[in-house]
Amino acid sequence: MTDRGTGRGRGKLILFGEHTVVYGTPAIVAGLPNGASATAVRRSDGSHELRFSPPADQQDREEQDFERARKAYEALLETFDDDGGVEVEIDIDIPSGVGLGSSAAFSAAVARAVGELFAQPDRVEAAVEAAESVFHGNPSGIDQLAALKGGLRFYHRAEERTGPPPTIDAPPVDIGVCRAGGPVSTRQMVERVEAFVDREAELFERIELLVGDTVRAATEALERGDRRRLGRLMDVNHGALASLGVSTEALDRAVHVARNSGARGAKLTGAGGGGCVCAVLPAEGGGEVLDAWRDEGWRPFRVQLGGDEESD
Ligand code: PMV
Repeated sequence: MTDRGTGRGRGKLILFGEHTVVYGTPAIVAGLPNGASATAVRRSDGSHELRFSPPADQQDREEQDFERARKAYEALLETFDDDGGVEVEIDIDIPSGVGLGSSAAFSAAVARAVGELFAQPDRVEAAVEAAESVFHGNPSGIDQLAALKGGLRFYHRAEERTGPPPTIDAPPVDIGVCRAGGPVSTRQMVERVEAFVDREAELFERIELLVGDTVRAATEALERGDRRRLGRLMDVNHGALASLGVSTEALDRAVHVARNSGARGAKLTGAGGGGCVCAVLPAEGGGEVLDAWRDEGWRPFRVQLGGDEESD
């Protein structure tokens, strides 16, 4: 019997289609190199413990985040066929609540570590889903996919597709990411969109059609390495998200700062209401975009997607 299990989960960047993806419209997501790693060991007294590294009281997070993580941990353990006690140590190297998929990275890392400890790797996906339902309510599954598989992918909810979401074969593209707002609850933002759908069902259908066309066009633009078109399509998607009420003044500003300093286009990424924006950087440079964001006091970073990037 193994006496120790380890696992990793990636953070994610939604390039296109957040929120509408919950209703069955496609989206494009990329796994990030950063995320979470976990180690699980057995406890002889049958109890469960989740330990954060660095410890919870040294992290820049709210107590309720840790409470939710502990609840997600309990839900995750219940999906495994083993009543033994488990202690998990988790290390998360992306900020939480800013649209970069920290909760799914957490869930994937813990589920993999526990799956290895219990020798039940076939339960990992169900365990991630159980944990994500605690964090999100009605998750589309897009974060789980990126956390477990990585890569650059065209994503549809499980009910809308046959087989796994395909990877997009794209030449490398540089994306700037900037955190321009505080942490937000994804669940609250998903509920905000739900309220829009209840009040404006017909308009929402049109927005879904627009975003669906945008996502399909963006897939082609990624495959061709057409940054200009990709950027324009991001601008369209940002407009659609703003019309659903999930942008903020700071996110709109971060999008404009990027466009005005040479980005090909920009949008909010993730649930919105705070959190991050992403922008297509020009083929040469792109440093101006990051500098312009820094000048505003924000914290940007750059990722390269596509190319020969490995998936899990
Ligand atoms: O995890 P976040 O906050 O980036 O949001 C995930 C994307 C949503 O489309 C808003 C929700 C979902 O489950 O797809």
